[in-house]
Amino acid sequence: MAILIGDIAPDFTADSSEGPIHFYDYIDGAWAVLFSHPKNYTPVCTTELGYTAKLKPEFDKRGVKVLGLSVDKLEDHAGWASDIAETQGAALNFPLLADTNGDVARAYDMIHPNADNTLTVRSVFVIGPDKKVKLKIEYPASTGRNFDEVLRVIDSLQLTAKHQVATPVNWKDGEDVIIVPAVSNEAAKEKFPEGWKELKPYLRIVPQPRG
Ligand code: BEZ
Repeated sequence: MAILIGDIAPDFTADSSEGPIHFYDYIDGAWAVLFSHPKNYTPVCTTELGYTAKLKPEFDKRGVKVLGLSVDKLEDHAGWASDIAETQGAALNFPLLADTNGDVARAYDMIHPNADNTLTVRSVFVIGPDKKVKLKIEYPASTGRNFDEVLRVIDSLQLTAKHQVATPVNWKDGEDVIIVPAVSNEAAKEKFPEGWKELKPYLRIVPQPRG
């Protein structure tokens, strides 16, 4: 059965470039990004892994643990890691799972048989501290993902979790946000004492909360 937003992310134990990982212990109440790439020693994957390594400080700042995955062998991760460092200007700085038998990939529906019978598509899961799936993205093998967008969604998700605000179309960090409909005007007065701009009773705009 497909893993959907709101579902509990499946637990697993697997080998990784940084040793065996028991997923629930690894995330340990933090936010997490689990993403698959189709195959080591391929061009698009090389650029994605290098860029994600460059973004690691941004994930750290947000308290997000990053985990990559492919169905390659562990020893292939090590050889490829040096190519990533050489060509992308950033060395791998997060674990890469070696899901050789595809167990994790199948648990997360990362293999789409009509695309490829054995290799994973480019899946991204953002998982919250409650272990629930908050975001799911799937890209084809030939299209590199936008990991800046993954960070943007994490910012939005964390704002919602902390301040009960949602983010409008094309929102970027620092721009106005929307009070979620579940917050009554009475509750909103407490949360947003400076007030809000009410375009409609269901469309209440406030500056992005900080902190
Ligand atoms: C790539 O990373 O470049 C790639 C991987 C699998 C299929 C096509 C492209």
